[in-house]
Amino acid sequence: MGLYSSSRGPLASALLLCFCMLFLGVHGGSRRLYIVYLGDVKHGHPNDVIASHHDLLSNVLGSMEDSLDSMIHNYKHGFSGFAAMLTEDQAKQIAELPDVISVQPSRRCRAATTRSWDFLDLNYQMPNDLLNKGRYGEEIIIGVVDTGIWPESRSFSDEGYGPVPSRWRGKCQVGQGWDRNNCSRKIIGARFYSAGLDEEELKKVDYLSPRDKDGHGTHTASTAAGSVVEGASFHGLAAGVARGGAPHARIAVYKALWQGVGGTDAALLAAIDDAIHDGVDVLSLSVGGFSDNSFGALHAVQKGITVVYAAGNDGPSPQTLENTSPWVITVAASKMDRSFPTVITLGNKQQIVGQSHYYLGRNSSRSIFRSLEYGGLCTADALNGTDLKGKIVLCATPNSPTGNGPSAIIGQAFQNVRNGGGSGLIFIQYTTDLLQEWVGMPCVLVDIDTGKKIRQYIKAGSSPVAKIEPARSITGKDILAPKVASFSSRGPSPDYADIIKPDIAAPGASILAAVGDSYRFESGTSMATPHVTGIIALLKALHPNWSPAALKSAIVTTASVTDERGMPILAEGLPRKVADPFDYGGGHINPNRAADPGLIYDIDPNDYNHFFGCTVTKISASCNVTYVPGYFLNLPSISVPNLRYPVSIPRTVTNVGEVDAVYHAAIESPAGVKIEVEPSVLVFNAANKVHTFQVKISPMWRLQGDYTFGSITWYNGEKIVRIPVAARITIHDSFADVA
Ligand SMILES: *[C@@H]1O[C@H](CO)[C@@H](O)[C@H](O)[C@H]1NC(C)=O
Ligand SMILES: *[C@@H]1O[C@H](CO)[C@@H](O)[C@H](O)[C@H]1NC(C)=O
Ligand SMILES: *[C@@H]1O[C@H](CO)[C@@H](O)[C@H](O)[C@H]1NC(C)=O
Ligand SMILES: *[C@@H]1O[C@H](CO)[C@@H](O)[C@H](O)[C@H]1NC(C)=O
Repeated sequence: MGLYSSSRGPLASALLLCFCMLFLGVHGGSRRLYIVYLGDVKHGHPNDVIASHHDLLSNVLGSMEDSLDSMIHNYKHGFSGFAAMLTEDQAKQIAELPDVISVQPSRRCRAATTRSWDFLDLNYQMPNDLLNKGRYGEEIIIGVVDTGIWPESRSFSDEGYGPVPSRWRGKCQVGQGWDRNNCSRKIIGARFYSAGLDEEELKKVDYLSPRDKDGHGTHTASTAAGSVVEGASFHGLAAGVARGGAPHARIAVYKALWQGVGGTDAALLAAIDDAIHDGVDVLSLSVGGFSDNSFGALHAVQKGITVVYAAGNDGPSPQTLENTSPWVITVAASKMDRSFPTVITLGNKQQIVGQSHYYLGRNSSRSIFRSLEYGGLCTADALNGTDLKGKIVLCATPNSPTGNGPSAIIGQAFQNVRNGGGSGLIFIQYTTDLLQEWVGMPCVLVDIDTGKKIRQYIKAGSSPVAKIEPARSITGKDILAPKVASFSSRGPSPDYADIIKPDIAAPGASILAAVGDSYRFESGTSMATPHVTGIIALLKALHPNWSPAALKSAIVTTASVTDERGMPILAEGLPRKVADPFDYGGGHINPNRAADPGLIYDIDPNDYNHFFGCTVTKISASCNVTYVPGYFLNLPSISVPNLRYPVSIPRTVTNVGEVDAVYHAAIESPAGVKIEVEPSVLVFNAANKVHTFQVKISPMWRLQGDYTFGSITWYNGEKIVRIPVAARITIHDSFADVA
């Protein structure tokens, strides 16, 4: 059972998990869907591109007829390639052709606010903040690749919007429950993608159209760009003004994920290909497990589109990150300064506080005392033979840390208690990250000390009882925040060890946003991703000429590593600890500082080919670039996973602040490592806007070591431009421990 697979079905859960099953062909057992990637578009008009794909395919398959039969989708705008049903032999033959960069099976992927913007100090009552400077994201087009959208939500009202930007080249694709008039000046385009899936099957479980049955896409789109909606709440909890990060940005919908079904690489790539054609400025993908096809995002970035991806919800285990290509922004999830205290009254009048999203529904107009039972781990075995009818059951997390912490266990416990006829669950664990809407009965999270008190009461009394009050929501400065959420996937990147991932953390726990006609809490890096998307839209409005790398640099170098009191940001997990760059990259996003970062670390998008061409395309014939470690790429971070000898790494910074500026370097060396920066003073003026400096990183000992962390900060008395550094001293090539 996945992390958020409560009773609401797999896609309703907060993120999209790839089960990485290969798609098996429907015609003949041996054919399956492959993605053939051919690089840049070379033939001009899309029809010529398609014709060239058919030429290539019919040469291998023997006839144009077979080619037409096998072809599922042509990629023709942002990059060239196609998805086709092929046998393994045919795929091999195609991979041998000189023009072909890669051939990969298409994998199946599956889907696993109010307060958050004030928490980030993006408040529309403050005239000088990024929200106002970025004119609420007007003129910016955000592409959301997800489960579609619910156009009737108040969050997508187009009242007061000017005409659709003239550069827009997208479409409003009609379908089940979706008319041309469902596109508007807010939802300016909408398409859907079923490549590799059976449309007849999709119709049974979802709308065969951009309309969102699941809710995930509506939630993420309204978080990135929802209009201002007064009085949004979830049954009174977290009441306030709901809006997206860039509330006037236009939304382009690319539905490539389907309720209960998920999506395919072939469909996601088709969405990205069209989004490049249509003219989006930012692409938001709260999608997991998109394995080897990061070339789609690479083409988008090379055309100036910032691509923002979820980091995954498989934390707190290390090396669980997804979507870690250097050219995208990989987003971790944090918890913010809001909590939902829920009072539990025991039969001895003792009051205990946990957290939940419990509210009184139609059937339960008031809270009453119910029998209380200790259910141990609340596995089916543990509860077998116990009468749970009408009772509140106390369940515990196992003492030994399991891979995914309590997240995997709580869903099972909830189901077992409910199946046994229970009417409430109190779950003992170390984190409140599992808060969510549990349907059917209250589910209160309590910490281990509190859980112990309840157990003592149960042991002492002869007929223990308890009463659960509905949750309240409280916000503000007396709650330690932010913290990296325990479910947020952790680095280092399993794919690119020599860069730091994730890039940034943003609020992603208990986020209230639109689902259908109402508002609902969801948690996940899926929810953190559109926060970053919205902020990128505002930054792009403010700095239209900045590249995706410059925009990323702005948010990474200005991110917070402490809270406003100077206390270090923590990461939930086993154990809870001070967060490091493998939890949150540069830190927690700080949009107002990102608006004016002082210096940026920019990257020529062609450099990505130079550094990563061979690893991305996984084919040697067309890739004769000698491998250069990723840490030589001008990223706003440095990670050296195999530090044996001193290494000198260049970085180049561009002044985007006051023309005349003098910056000094402040170095925090990782333990066991010495960092020197040369020169350590950079003088910028009208003639010198760009400076390159060398970072010399040396191991202090001969050691088969572990990752340690530091930073390099440029400051000029006003601006602070900080990049994280990770280094691991090694002697041997092989190492087992990366935690
Ligand atoms: C979407 O189209 C349907 C069918 O025409 C219509 O009933 C509905 O009101 C439309 N919704 C919006 C927001 O325009
Ligand atoms: C509320 O009670 C009605 C009638 O007893 C029942 O049909 C319905 O399923 C209940 N709803 C919930 C959410 O428990
Ligand atoms: C409960 O335990 C009994 C006796 O050990 C066993 O026969 C039965 O299958 C168990 N039920 C479940 C649901 O595991
Ligand atoms: C491969 O290397 C050769 C010689 O260095 C060079 O001329 C050629 O352009 C390179 N090809 C590609 C595709 O980079």
